[in-house]
Amino acid sequence: MSQRTLGIIMNGVTGRMGTNQHLIRSVAAIRAAGGVALSDGSRVQLDPILVGRNAEKIEALAKAHGIARWTTDLDAAIANPADEIFFDAATTQLRPTLLERAIDAGKHVYCEKPIATNLAEALKICRQAEGRGIKNGVVQDKLFLPGLQKLKLLRDSGFFGRMLAVRGEFGYWVFEGDWGQPAQRPSWNYRSEDGGGIILDMVCHWRYVLDNLFGAVRSVSCLGATHIPERVDEAGKPYAATADDAAYATFQLEGGVIAHINMSWATRVHRDDLVTFQVDGTHGSAVAGLTDCVMQPRVGTPRPVWNPDQRQTIDFYESWQQVPDNLGTENGFKTQWEMFIRHVAEDAPYKFTLREGAKGVQLVECALQSWRERRWIDVPSLDLEGSQ
Ligand SMILES: NC(=O)c1ccc[n+]([C@@H]2O[C@H](COP(=O)([O-])OP(=O)(O)OC[C@H]3O[C@@H](n4cnc5c(N)ncnc54)[C@H](O)[C@@H]3O)[C@@H](O)[C@H]2O)c1
Repeated sequence: MSQRTLGIIMNGVTGRMGTNQHLIRSVAAIRAAGGVALSDGSRVQLDPILVGRNAEKIEALAKAHGIARWTTDLDAAIANPADEIFFDAATTQLRPTLLERAIDAGKHVYCEKPIATNLAEALKICRQAEGRGIKNGVVQDKLFLPGLQKLKLLRDSGFFGRMLAVRGEFGYWVFEGDWGQPAQRPSWNYRSEDGGGIILDMVCHWRYVLDNLFGAVRSVSCLGATHIPERVDEAGKPYAATADDAAYATFQLEGGVIAHINMSWATRVHRDDLVTFQVDGTHGSAVAGLTDCVMQPRVGTPRPVWNPDQRQTIDFYESWQQVPDNLGTENGFKTQWEMFIRHVAEDAPYKFTLREGAKGVQLVECALQSWRERRWIDVPSLDLEGSQ
């Protein structure tokens, strides 16, 4: 069986997402499996070079995961024609500039979301990638979660009948960093000036989840909040939390579905998972978390009657049925890496392009505008250049 090798420049791999999801769960796991299988039966093995600012850290990370190549010199890495793909999981604010440099050097580019902190920069980078004709992609990991794949299966089978509404609950308590409990997320997440904010972080995910599963997003109404105004950073120093740490957003979708999503880093979890989506349709409802999904068809729907004088007699959880684990889903980041590698290596179709990423940034901007102006904002199409 023939095998070729694909060189990948991986930037920002010492971070949370870079190390855990992209290096360990994806690229190292693909290497351990002997590479990505192509449609002709051959395989592409990955040959990453890890890039970071701190030589000691990046060397240790490379050694720990059996990666031979590492560097602190990003310019030299980008200048090496042997590496065909540039990947970025560093801070959002630097992303468009880094992608631009890589595109100029003729690299294919793949990156974390959001692709930029504002739509103008996001569209500029799309046009550059499209104009240069290089392959491009953005992480849209939530679509590959087993729970959401099960929702898709229900939708595709016609289970819901006419879909009416979607309710999403996302969030958990992120510790403030004081009273002996360090925060479990990086402090930049809570500073607008550093690319933080839950709307920027999460609404770009909701865009592709809603577009792909329930209907294209047509308009948004959003109220943001900074519930915790002061936090303590990684060095134990108090700082002003200038970014939104919660948002309450409603979306109107093509086809008439109404979606409402609450997102918060200042809420305590009393639900089955860190994110849950309830979908109600005329013929059935379903509730999905990251992994599991339960369903209730209309013939299995209990018949409650409002009576505040009596303790509830119905166990509402009892009548839901698990959607079985028949889909064989893997880590979504790895699945998406494999898809992108096939896109580069054999021109396989790949729909999660930078332009799809730009739609996420667009919805973020619309949500922020809605909050600022206290009104509904329509979301123009970005599919055709010049239509916005
Ligand atoms: N897909 C998802 O579910 C998901 C989840 C969390 C974060 N993210 C995205 O991933 C990216 C990284 O987030 P994270 O939570 O891993 O952050 P992090 O703070 O843990 O990591 C950031 C990385 O960027 C590097 N970095 C920071 N400043 C830099 C600079 N000036 N120059 C070069 N490198 C620099 C750091 O060394 C580190 O490797 C963000 O864009 C974020 O939006 C995606």
